[in-house]
Amino acid sequence: MLVEPGGSGHTGCRLLLTGCVGPCQDMRPCPPSCSNGVSPLGVTGLLGSRTMNPLRRLLLPLLRVYYMGMRVALEQLLRRAFTLPDLPMQHGRVAIITGGSKGIGYCTALHLAKLGMHVIIAGNHESEGIDAVRQIQRCTQNTRVEFLCCDLTSMKSIRKFVQNFEAKNLDLHVLVNNAGVMLVSERRTQDGFEEHFGLNYLGHFLLTNLLLKYLKRSGACDNYARVVTVSSATHYVGELNFDDLQSSCCYSPHGAYAQSKLALVLFSYYLQNQLMTDGSHVTANVVDPGVVNTDLYMNVNWAGRIVKWLTAWLLFKTPEEGAATSIYASVSSDLEGVGGCYLYNGQKEKSADISYNEDFQKRLWTESSQMTGMPISA
Ligand SMILES: NC(=O)c1ccc[n+]([C@@H]2O[C@H](COP(=O)([O-])OP(=O)(O)OC[C@H]3O[C@@H](n4cnc5c(N)ncnc54)[C@H](OP(=O)(O)O)[C@@H]3O)[C@@H](O)[C@H]2O)c1
Repeated sequence: MLVEPGGSGHTGCRLLLTGCVGPCQDMRPCPPSCSNGVSPLGVTGLLGSRTMNPLRRLLLPLLRVYYMGMRVALEQLLRRAFTLPDLPMQHGRVAIITGGSKGIGYCTALHLAKLGMHVIIAGNHESEGIDAVRQIQRCTQNTRVEFLCCDLTSMKSIRKFVQNFEAKNLDLHVLVNNAGVMLVSERRTQDGFEEHFGLNYLGHFLLTNLLLKYLKRSGACDNYARVVTVSSATHYVGELNFDDLQSSCCYSPHGAYAQSKLALVLFSYYLQNQLMTDGSHVTANVVDPGVVNTDLYMNVNWAGRIVKWLTAWLLFKTPEEGAATSIYASVSSDLEGVGGCYLYNGQKEKSADISYNEDFQKRLWTESSQMTGMPISA
């Protein structure tokens, strides 16, 4: 059973559920009568996150994430990867791709550059970024590919990136929120947020909000601007822990990754609703690349790495295959003016039930605005 935010529980619970914006301070247990409990998957209240024994709090997310990964990998074995249709050339259009120096992001940047787009790779390692730019320019003969520094673990760096972008006086037609980390050990971003939540989700939340005015200015009724956000099938097993979004009470790297990917889905749907309401010519979609052979798995334990090493050639997508849905969502004319979709293998799929809950979307947006210092109705 899902519990509405600020729902029918006792007052103490309601305060805790709405109040914990930064690292969790309040460790008061809830009375057993509290009904602001847990959904099996989805939104977790106090009963779920704090009274469950710590072993289960670590083990359950781990098992769920591995289960989901294996399920998707096996499905990939049985189903051919999505191949891109012919896509329209994109001369004169501008794209920003976070984490475009390698993996799925690099393949996305390469393909968009092949279509003639002006591509800006937003990344945190300058030398890797410049290498990627040179390689893309060499492969595509497109000289309008560049690197701009943007460390998504730092709100200061994100704001500086947007200032640098502004100084270029360019339009912006596509933003691909691609960068991410997975299963990092417990650590904080420069602004004190848990790293999966802070980088994968909040960094992109802030970046998108700061870039919205350029997207809105560049979108047209016959040629919408697009926000494409890369989530993951792990969002299906994620829980949005509203009383402890920073995973301070008990840190599970698997749970934190899945939560960040679930947050991105809610964010994308809420953004789409806002864009529609204000009549902007911008769409927001979320994509799931599948299980892809990239460096994302570098923090998996040694046993997992051996399994990956043995099976990746058979079960994993290549980075090019993994990028196909991001590219499709960025430029396909099938999706002209279409937003609010969860796309997997180039098809619209249903995301986790909880991701459609507008109260949770709004609540997450409001709390994220507070955390990043954005106006709430941005
Ligand atoms: N691979 C999969 O099976 C899979 C499955 C589902 C979803 N995804 C999602 O796909 C996206 C791309 O992942 P990938 O598989 O291509 O992994 P990857 O090869 O490790 O690429 C991740 C990218 O994110 C960048 N990044 C990391 N920290 C950053 C920071 N602080 N600021 C800016 N950029 C940063 C990395 O740059 P540096 O290396 O320079 O730090 C890198 O370019 C991620 O969002 C991931 O969650 C992947």
